[in-house]
Amino acid sequence: MASLRLSSLAARGVVASAVSRPSPVAVRGFSTSLTRRQNDPATSADSKKPTFAIASRLKDGRALALDVWSVFNAANLPQDCINLGQGYMNFPPPVWARDAAEEALRSVEGNHYAPAKGRLRLRKAIKQFYGTQFGKELDPETEIVVTSGANEGQYAAFTAFIEPGDEVIIFEPFFDQYLPSIAFHGGKCVYVPLHPSSEPAPNVKIGKQSWTIDFDELRRAVTPKTKMIVLNTPHNPVGKVFTRAELEGIAKIAEEHNLIVMSDEVYESLVFDGLEHVRIATLPGMWERTITVGSAGKLFAATGWRVGWLVGPPSLIGPTTAATTRIVFCSNTPMQEAAAAGLEQARERGFFEQQLAEYEERRGVLIDAFEKLELEYAWPEGSYFILLDISKVRWPKNYTFPATIEGRGRDFKASWFIANEIGVSSIPVSEFYCEEHVAIGENYARFAFCKDLDTLRRAGERLQRLREYLV
Ligand SMILES: Cc1ncc(COP(=O)(O)O)c(C=O)c1O
Repeated sequence: MASLRLSSLAARGVVASAVSRPSPVAVRGFSTSLTRRQNDPATSADSKKPTFAIASRLKDGRALALDVWSVFNAANLPQDCINLGQGYMNFPPPVWARDAAEEALRSVEGNHYAPAKGRLRLRKAIKQFYGTQFGKELDPETEIVVTSGANEGQYAAFTAFIEPGDEVIIFEPFFDQYLPSIAFHGGKCVYVPLHPSSEPAPNVKIGKQSWTIDFDELRRAVTPKTKMIVLNTPHNPVGKVFTRAELEGIAKIAEEHNLIVMSDEVYESLVFDGLEHVRIATLPGMWERTITVGSAGKLFAATGWRVGWLVGPPSLIGPTTAATTRIVFCSNTPMQEAAAAGLEQARERGFFEQQLAEYEERRGVLIDAFEKLELEYAWPEGSYFILLDISKVRWPKNYTFPATIEGRGRDFKASWFIANEIGVSSIPVSEFYCEEHVAIGENYARFAFCKDLDTLRRAGERLQRLREYLV
């Protein structure tokens, strides 16, 4: 079965195009000349093509390496594979929010540039949505900027504050966009790994408590060049919700060393088990040094809208607005209207409560499957991801993997094997680590539960077959 699947991959060009971490020196029209004969007419045509040196920041930002999303892409996996890899939903955003985008498209204004800092309606809706959660009402003119997804907002904040050589502390495993966004500005990522817990999670047999910070490691990571700490709660991919005590510990270090904190809270509406979502910006002294990141994509099952925002003091939001204005100028107008309508109506419709209950049920389906399978996993306190310990998964010795998988962490092989032979795709977690710490991530695969119940139930049933491949 494996070799059959492999040959079909070769036919689709997946195997042949495999590049593990290519060197970005110079590209001659993505030359294939090494495999062609000298007198091949295509070769002489290729040799006439101009050569351009690629900026080294692409290599520094891992942008030339074949990324995990391209490897574990539906097009490379068997057609009937259930996709729990990439974190996008297989259900639509609420119709009452989508209607606002349609209405905007029917108007003249709704098809034109938005103000660089975002449509006033959306900034007012963000203000109303957060109310006094930041310990004060937000000023939509100076304390909120709308961006093209959280991603671009974070990129703009790095543009505004990171000079070449500045160090930015990020916790591992990390959302993979942080690394290129920092590296593209000449910043240096300093990695502080979170540590898996071996303590049992409450009320289950196999699940383990969430991962923890070693504060000595965090303190050692700070140098005179440190400018910023990037924090993500609820966390992708661990599913961790940082506790108030942990955030107080981080805040203390940030204050002592005069650091900016970028608090990525895009999963703010997905905090389970009655846990508290603490915003580090609300801790004493932290408002003035914190940029809080939000995303309409995550709040409204609308990752394709590409609408996000940043909240913070004018001293941080002003320069970031200046940067975003020169990066994208402004964000997509009709989808800002959809996000505004979403935020305006969500509370009275009980949308977030209902969505949370639905996600809790979805989470339960995967947890049951992993408990039955008796494979350890990190109890997901928030977000829509579960980390499964795949260190016990073994595949036949003669099993063949495409070149895109060879040379990567063991988790790439395990996830590939599970996707192809069990029929459920996941994301190997070593991708979310620096080279030196890959060995920690190699033991885990990330499964996303932002899918409908039927899909998750089918995935859970299929995953039971993994038992045959456990040691
Ligand atoms: C932790 C984290 N931050 C930011 C983003 C990007 O959000 P957006 O789609 O709004 O750019 C994601 C998306 O997966 C994420 O997981």
